[in-house]
Amino acid sequence: MKVQTLRWANDHLEMIDQRVLPAEFRYMSYNSAESVAQGIRDMVVRGAPAIGVAAAYGVALEAQRQRNQTRDAFQQALSIAFDVLAKSRPTAVNLFWALQHMRSAWESVQAETPDSIAQALLSKAHAIYQEDIAINRAMGAHGEKLLKDGARVLTHCNAGALATAGHGTALGVIRSAVEAGKKISVIADETRPFLQGARLTAWEMVQENIPCTLITDNMAGHLMSHGDIDAVIVGTDRVAANGDVANKIGTYMVAVLAQRHKIPFYVACPLSTIDMSVACGRDIPIEERHADEVKGFRDHHWAAAGVAIRNPAFDVTPAELVTALITEKGVIHAPNKGNLQPLF
Ligand code: MRU
Repeated sequence: MKVQTLRWANDHLEMIDQRVLPAEFRYMSYNSAESVAQGIRDMVVRGAPAIGVAAAYGVALEAQRQRNQTRDAFQQALSIAFDVLAKSRPTAVNLFWALQHMRSAWESVQAETPDSIAQALLSKAHAIYQEDIAINRAMGAHGEKLLKDGARVLTHCNAGALATAGHGTALGVIRSAVEAGKKISVIADETRPFLQGARLTAWEMVQENIPCTLITDNMAGHLMSHGDIDAVIVGTDRVAANGDVANKIGTYMVAVLAQRHKIPFYVACPLSTIDMSVACGRDIPIEERHADEVKGFRDHHWAAAGVAIRNPAFDVTPAELVTALITEKGVIHAPNKGNLQPLF
């Protein structure tokens, strides 16, 4: 794997610091649930599946740190770890999915010693990590069939290896198409305000020599109207039971444009991202991030001082604009409750 977003190093977790890419490539080290939660909040690690995997390791790290405590103190510390991690970011359901799997793993060995519970939780985190890569590969195999040779594919945000344990979801479909021998070129939306497209997607594509052209977010309509885009593929943070898709802010705009220009709009979506407990997109919690992200980038602010700012990090694309969800179990055309329910 060319990009190893997260890696286990003997007794601690290392994650690529995605805040500083591509200017700098460095790993940050983590040894507690609280520090991993901070890494998720600060976007050292981001992207729904990667957040889930990081949270699983956060639980495992805390169990390891507390393994010499009494049973009661261990149980209490672990409960706090789950709470702290669950509060790190609200929209990506993979976070809660991973925590639920870790909780079930804990419950199944609850009678054992703290030391063996810690070992079981680390094994579970490793399994979630490996499973994520396998799922992305399966989505890639299903999704690449939707792309014709020579396709020019627009993507928004980063749903690549950096957003997962490896291979990626939306970029995983593109990688799989390239591996199948197709000539694919990517058009990457810059993705204001955090610039996941310009910094992360563009970086991943350049690393692998997959042709990639960067545009600012407001250029997509122009390119579509000139016939320069054949398909759109994005990732998602949470899909509601009716097929509504929450993803990076600006995705909805792209979906509306795609429909206007009769361009297929695909969403690469592991089943762990579908939340059947949420009826429709309106019920998905949308994170509001700090105003500084909109004022400028890092320490350089260009917005007029004193202006009011909104910074919703995600938006919801109604199911009617989604051509298909690409899952590890196959492609679901025109997603709705009727065709999503049987997947579970
Ligand atoms: O705020 P981010 O960078 O965590 O948002 C990421 C996205 O919106 C991705 O498109 C989504 O998580 C899918 S990643 C496979």
